[in-house]
Amino acid sequence: LQAKPLAGRSVLITAGPTFEPIDPVRGLTNRSSGKMGFAIARAAREAGAEVTLIAGPVHLDTPRGVRRVDVQTALQMHEAVLSQAAQFDVFVATAAVADWRPAQLTEHKIKKKAGDKAAPSFELTENPDILADVSALSATAGQRPFCVGFAAESQDLLKHAREKLVRKKLPLIVANLGPATFGRDDNALLLVDAQGERELPQDDKLNLARELVQEIARRLPANL
Ligand code: C5P
Repeated sequence: LQAKPLAGRSVLITAGPTFEPIDPVRGLTNRSSGKMGFAIARAAREAGAEVTLIAGPVHLDTPRGVRRVDVQTALQMHEAVLSQAAQFDVFVATAAVADWRPAQLTEHKIKKKAGDKAAPSFELTENPDILADVSALSATAGQRPFCVGFAAESQDLLKHAREKLVRKKLPLIVANLGPATFGRDDNALLLVDAQGERELPQDDKLNLARELVQEIARRLPANL
């Protein structure tokens, strides 16, 4: 094994949930802790890469030597990623991006009034798919990084992972094998690509991240 297999490479990573405001005090989010993405950032840095981490709202320390940009919403994460993705060799999308956001942001707190019978309702609108948009950058113009997607599913994991690989045109998908990995320090992963699958059994997220980084490094085109 090479000690610094990502020396001279740059890696962009998204991590954590996004937060989609409903009004100034409320919002939609999910239970992603960001731990897997932060572990990958640390492992990529250890492997010699220049690493930028785009983080949703999480309670985690920035790994040493990693450049970090904090965002709240999917639209902010999309902008932070797309504004620089073409300059990176690798893009790893671990963020649990909210699929939808409230269509309108209510300027003031929605108040509960005495006698109100009906609960308030609001419309949702779709968020952009950050990973699909990065994957659609031009390879011929040298703008498309090597894209790695994550898949968390409650059923038919392999089937959905393979569908995602094709739909988002990815060279590699990482499926979460653990039933509920949110917030945990360990996980089990299944690496899925056009050739087949490889399981990384239950381990600390940092050890899994180190293995994943090795797998990414060996798939990159040789440095010119
Ligand atoms: O389509 P689905 O959400 O299941 O795909 C998961 C993968 O796509 C993850 O890598 C996730 O980070 C990425 N994704 C994204 N932007 C979205 C939705 C998912 O980058 N809006």
